[in-house]
Amino acid sequence: MWTNTPITKALDLLYPVIQGPFGGGVSSTQLVAAVSNAGGLGSFGANALSPAQITEVVTDIRAKTSRPFAINLWVMTEAEPGLSAATFEKVGGWFAPYYRELGLEAPKPPARFAQDYAAQIEALLEAKPPVASFVFGIPSKDVLQACRKRGIFTIGTATTVEEAEALEEAGLDAVVATGLEAGGHRPSFLRSAEDSLTGTLALVPQVADRVKIPVIAAGAIADGRGVVAALALGAQAVQIGTAFLGCAESGAPSVHREMLFQPEARDTQLTRAFSGRLVRAIRNRFMDDMTKHAADLPPYPIQNWFSGSLRKAAIEQGKADFLSLQAGQGAGLLKERTAQALMDKLVRETSAALNAISR
Ligand SMILES: Cc1cc2nc3c(=O)[nH]c(=O)nc-3n(C[C@H](O)[C@H](O)[C@H](O)COP(=O)(O)O)c2cc1C
Repeated sequence: MWTNTPITKALDLLYPVIQGPFGGGVSSTQLVAAVSNAGGLGSFGANALSPAQITEVVTDIRAKTSRPFAINLWVMTEAEPGLSAATFEKVGGWFAPYYRELGLEAPKPPARFAQDYAAQIEALLEAKPPVASFVFGIPSKDVLQACRKRGIFTIGTATTVEEAEALEEAGLDAVVATGLEAGGHRPSFLRSAEDSLTGTLALVPQVADRVKIPVIAAGAIADGRGVVAALALGAQAVQIGTAFLGCAESGAPSVHREMLFQPEARDTQLTRAFSGRLVRAIRNRFMDDMTKHAADLPPYPIQNWFSGSLRKAAIEQGKADFLSLQAGQGAGLLKERTAQALMDKLVRETSAALNAISR
């Protein structure tokens, strides 16, 4: 049976379907619980959360489901880059017309631009979720050992075969192989994201051939045909982002969720404009405007902080022009609007597609 894989066994799932985590505040405990209660693995992207918020989120998920779930963090091994007065003035100048348009005061530089990763890790270990997943690198030996000691199953994320091998070597329990079609950031960490653009169809079987840990396929999987293809390529589970982001339970602003079902969602691009890191999102005015500064953008998390205050106001004002409308190349396949309907459809279609092939 396709529902029986090393991943479903290890994580006690009914189906080898993982709802991909969404960072930047668009995860919701409702979606995580709905997917986990339906027999998949719900994931919460906690990269933007303070340690106290991570504790609250895990408590909230536990109140909504007794099934396994994952908490996801962005690995940060280096100190935050500094922001010189000259860069602040220059980048602030690019943003000034947008702040005016949205009726915002230009923000003052904060003490830190992103959350304290070490403190997030402490909160995660303390909260002991059944699964911890990571992007943008390899968690340290100490962190992985602490996870093992607490019975936390660990998942790393690779955009190349070499990254998958490095994650296995470090002792991660499973690896997501994420193709260039996927929505969200390209979480590359050995080479630049621009040099790590392999499609799902090519990446998954090569990773499956080179590592022994279970492989989870991600990137443009949105229906049963995609699940069957991923399993045929050697994956033991799929991780689906965009199709779950479109569900009513997701934390995406309604203007973003609605856009996923529109023809514009077929026009996605990879850009560093929003966060300073390469992300796949639906083309919009902010992305187009920023191309003229492409060679000069400050790195993550500085660019992310500049655009973050714009995004907050844009959500309140329902303006899609300034949102990071993250979406994968499979957006055109979206139909279902709730997590239960999507899970039901994936299970039904996967069984039907396998039957059709064997006939
Ligand atoms: C809005 C959005 C935010 C995302 N944030 C994260 C994140 O914080 N951590 C992570 O591991 N993956 C993140 N992803 C990637 C998804 O978890 C998933 O791997 C990816 O969306 C799968 O490709 P698909 O969108 O084609 O289904 C994000 C994806 C989207 C669409």
